[in-house]
Amino acid sequence: MAANLLFPATDRLPTGADRAPYLDSLLDWADRTAELSASDVLLAFFGQPLDARTLRLTGLHHVAAYLGDYRHEEEFEAWLESVRVHPGVSHVSTGPSHIAPRVHGTPGHWINLRTARGTEVEFFTCRSYGDWADQPAERKRALMSHVGLSVDTPDHVRRVVDYLAGFESVEVLAYAPEDELGHTYGHLLRTDTDRVLELVHAGRSQP
Ligand SMILES: [Fe+2]
Repeated sequence: MAANLLFPATDRLPTGADRAPYLDSLLDWADRTAELSASDVLLAFFGQPLDARTLRLTGLHHVAAYLGDYRHEEEFEAWLESVRVHPGVSHVSTGPSHIAPRVHGTPGHWINLRTARGTEVEFFTCRSYGDWADQPAERKRALMSHVGLSVDTPDHVRRVVDYLAGFESVEVLAYAPEDELGHTYGHLLRTDTDRVLELVHAGRSQP
């Protein structure tokens, strides 16, 4: 069975009383998606089986979902607060998206968290602005969602990213040798489906 790696996000970030059930369904999706193997994820992204062990991919590191667009910063702040107070969520951190302004011409936010079952989750939301606002919702979901697969060593991340970027219709979207958490990661983009895959070696573990 092909894995569905995209959370079926609504076009707009839910507001008011719609936030809580939406967050519950997101967390449920994240925990279910985190049960996939690296091979499942590779098959879903590339459309053909690849051997995770040969590529030195050791498992699933995190799942990332697009939440839908927000219209005003107040909408994002309210959403963030609903995440912070959710009893099934811990280790919440947030910051401005670096990729959204550079690649999509609109501001955005990321939220990192851990579910009660220990799944590492990233949420993304972009402001409904400029050309981004007119993109189809399915394209936004594809471009801003991904699964992160663990690479066994930091120095192998670049090699496996470059190797996989040699596949047809696959290109490197981003590469960062070591971010503020000590993570080394690369993002691959499939130009024919707009899907994104991350390869990451986790650095310092979070408390
Ligand atoms: Fe990620």
